[in-house]
Amino acid sequence: MGLSPIHFDSSTRTFVLALSSSFYALRLDSDGRVLHLGSGAVPLGCAPTGLDNLAAYDEPDYAFDVQRLRYELPCFGDLSYHDVALKVTFPELADAPANGDSDILPIRDLRLRYVDHSVETKATPGFSPQHGRPLTNSTTRETLAIRLKDVAYDFWATLFYRVTPECDVIERWLEIENKCAFPVNIETLAFGTVHLPNGKYDLTRIAGAWAREFDTVKQPLEQGKFVLDHQGLTTGHPSNPIYMLAERGAATEQTGEVHFGALAYSGNWSLRFETLTSSATRVHGGYETTDFGMTLQPGESHRTPGFIHGVSADGVGGASRRLHRFVRDYILPGFGPDDFRPVLYNSWEATYFDLSAESQIAIARKAAAIGVELYCVDDGWFGSRRNDRAGLGDWTVSADVFPDGLKPLIDEVKALGMRFGLWVEPEMVNPDSDLYRAHPEWALHFPGRPRTEGRQQLILDLGRPEVVEYIFNLLDTLVRENDISFFKWDMNRYASEPGSVAGKGIYRAHVAGVYSIMDRLRATHPHLDIQSCSGGGGRVDLGILGRTDQVWTSDNTDPVDRVFIEDGFSLAYPARAMESWVTHEVNHQTGRRTSLDLRFDVAMRGALGIGTPLDKLSDDELDAYKRKIAFYKLIRPIVQGGDLYRLRIEPGVSIWQTVLADGSRAVLSTVIVEGQRLGQFSSPTRLKGLTPEATYIISDESGAERDRYTGYQLATLGLPDGRGWDKRRSTLSETLLLTRD
Ligand code: DGJ
Repeated sequence: MGLSPIHFDSSTRTFVLALSSSFYALRLDSDGRVLHLGSGAVPLGCAPTGLDNLAAYDEPDYAFDVQRLRYELPCFGDLSYHDVALKVTFPELADAPANGDSDILPIRDLRLRYVDHSVETKATPGFSPQHGRPLTNSTTRETLAIRLKDVAYDFWATLFYRVTPECDVIERWLEIENKCAFPVNIETLAFGTVHLPNGKYDLTRIAGAWAREFDTVKQPLEQGKFVLDHQGLTTGHPSNPIYMLAERGAATEQTGEVHFGALAYSGNWSLRFETLTSSATRVHGGYETTDFGMTLQPGESHRTPGFIHGVSADGVGGASRRLHRFVRDYILPGFGPDDFRPVLYNSWEATYFDLSAESQIAIARKAAAIGVELYCVDDGWFGSRRNDRAGLGDWTVSADVFPDGLKPLIDEVKALGMRFGLWVEPEMVNPDSDLYRAHPEWALHFPGRPRTEGRQQLILDLGRPEVVEYIFNLLDTLVRENDISFFKWDMNRYASEPGSVAGKGIYRAHVAGVYSIMDRLRATHPHLDIQSCSGGGGRVDLGILGRTDQVWTSDNTDPVDRVFIEDGFSLAYPARAMESWVTHEVNHQTGRRTSLDLRFDVAMRGALGIGTPLDKLSDDELDAYKRKIAFYKLIRPIVQGGDLYRLRIEPGVSIWQTVLADGSRAVLSTVIVEGQRLGQFSSPTRLKGLTPEATYIISDESGAERDRYTGYQLATLGLPDGRGWDKRRSTLSETLLLTRD
C-alpha cells in the first residue's frame, strides 16, 4: 500500500481524505463535534499540507439560523431544525430522575461527540455481498472510522469513510449501537450526509417509468428540500438512487467540478437534497422515511448500507467514468481481464408463454450457429404458468411444456457449445398457485384488510426466515438438478399493503433476504451468473450489482427509445452490466420498424443479447446476425472494459466513444434517430483518449479499412462527418472500430 489517503492532524484536529483529484475534509471542534470542512476538486498530485484557523470556515450565525455548524452527522436535537440523518427517541431517562422530569419523556435529543478514531482495512458497509467471490481489484482500501457517543446516554454511532483514491470515491456508512439498558427507537436513519461547497446547484438525476427507464433530467436546486425516493420495497422505476450536482452553469459533459453520489441498496431509499438560506447544500442518503421504523434493543446495533460519493474534476462524463471504474473494480462480482459478458439469447419476445421443447431446441440451434454463447429460457417453463395469471411459486418444470424435463434442451444447448440460463421470479406468488393454496399466510398482507394484486401476483413475506429458506432451496435444487449457469431474476411488482411478521422491518428484511439468497447461491454454485431484472430496469443500483453480473435495463427494446435509456443508464452504470437485445424488425412495444443496423448499433453498446425468433429468419438475415455478432466479439473488450466518453448527447443524437485505457483501440458508436434538417451543421466530433502521434485505422463490421487518421487529428479536427448530404439529413447509425497502427 502506498501513502495513506487518510490524514489526521492532531494539532488542528482535522481529517483530510486525499483522493487522486479531489478531497474531503472534516474537523473536530473543542466540544468533540465532527464538523464538515470542505470537499471538491484539487490539482492532481497535490497532497494536504496544513489547515488553520478552521472555526472561521463555519457558517455565519444569522439571527434566525442558529444552527450554523455543518455536522457530518446531523442529528435531531442539538439546535437542529434542518433535515437530519439520524433521529432517535429515548423512552427512559439515562439516570434515575431526581425530580418530575420523567413526565417529559420520551427524550428526542441526540448529541453525539467524538470519542476516538481508527483507520481500518477490512471494514465493510452493511448489506455487503457475502458470496465470497473476490472483487476484480483486490487493492486494500483504507477506512476512517470515527466513534461518537451521546453526551448523556450510552448510545453510540460510528461514521465510516472508505476511500478509493483512483476513483475519487468515498463510501460512507453509519453504525449505531444501543448500549442503554432499554430499547431505543430509531425514527430517521441515513447512511450518511454529504455536504457540498455553498452554492446554487444544478441536479442531474434519473427519472423514468416502465419502458421509459433512465430518463436523464436536469433541474436547478432551489432553497428548500427536494426528495428522490422509492417506497415499493425495491429500487423502483420512477427514480434511480444516483445524482450529479454541479454549480449552476459551471460544468458540462466534459468540464467542470461535479459532485456525484449513489446508494448501494435495493430497498426503500431516499436522497434528500437540502439547500439552506446560506446556500449551504447537503444530501442525506439513506432509508426512505415514510414507513421507516427500527427499534434497537439493549446491546443491538445496526450497520447501514453504503452511500457512495465523489467529485469529478472533468465534468459529468468524468463522474460517470469514475463510477464505471468503481463499479467494475469494486462492486460487481470479480471477473478476469479476458472474462466478458457472453452474447445472450433470450426467448421472451420470440415465444412469450408459447414455449415448447421443440421450438426452443430449434431456436437454440440457430442461436449457436450465429455465435450466441448463453441461451436463456424466459417465463412460462414451470408449473401452470401458461400465462401471467397463474403458477408463480410453483417452480417445477412443466410437463406440458417440457414432457421430458429440461434435460434434453440443456443437453442440446451444451452440445451446441452454449451455456444454459433460466428465468425466475422467486419473490412472488400468484394466488392461483399450489404455493399460495398451501401457504396463503406467506404473502405480504394486513389481516382482514383488502390487498392489491399487481400483474395478478403477490409478494412473499421475506420477513419470515422459512420463506427465505424455501426460496433458496428451490433455486438451489433447480441448479443442482439442471446444468444452469445463469438466472434472469425478475421482480414484477412493487409492494402495497406491506404487512409482514417483520413489521416495519420488512423493508430491510426483504432486501436482506434477496441478497442472502443470491449470495448463498453464488457461494454454492460459483459458476452461476445472475441478471437483475424488475419489469425491465426496476432494480438497478450498486447494492444489487454486488451480487449480479448484469441488469436488464428496460423491456423497451425499440432502439429509437432504447438509445436514450442507455444514455441515462450510463450516467452511473458501466456498459459491461447493461444487457441489451436485438429484437423484431417491427418492435413489439412501440410498433416501430427499424433497420437491423440500428438495432445492433444500439444493442452493441452494452452486453449484447438477441431476442428475435431466429427460427423465422431467412438464411440471409441469419448471416447478417452472424457477421454482426462476430464484429461485436471483436469490439467487446473495448465496449465492456474501456472508458466511456459521451461525445454528443442531444435530442435525437447520441454519440459514444469507448477507448481502452492505453489508447490502443476505441469504438465509436453514432446513433442519430431524428434526422437533422438540411442546412443544419453539427460541431466536430472530437475523439478522446487516443495517442496523438499514432495513426488509427478505422474499420467497420466488414473489417475493411475505411479511413486512417492520426490521434492528433481525431482529437482536434475530429472525425469528418460530412460524408454526404444524405447522411446529414437522414437518420444514421454506425459502429466503428479504431485500431492504433
Ligand atoms: C418482465 C421482464 O422484464 C421481461 O423481460 C420478461 O422476463 C417478463 N417479465 C416475463 O414475465
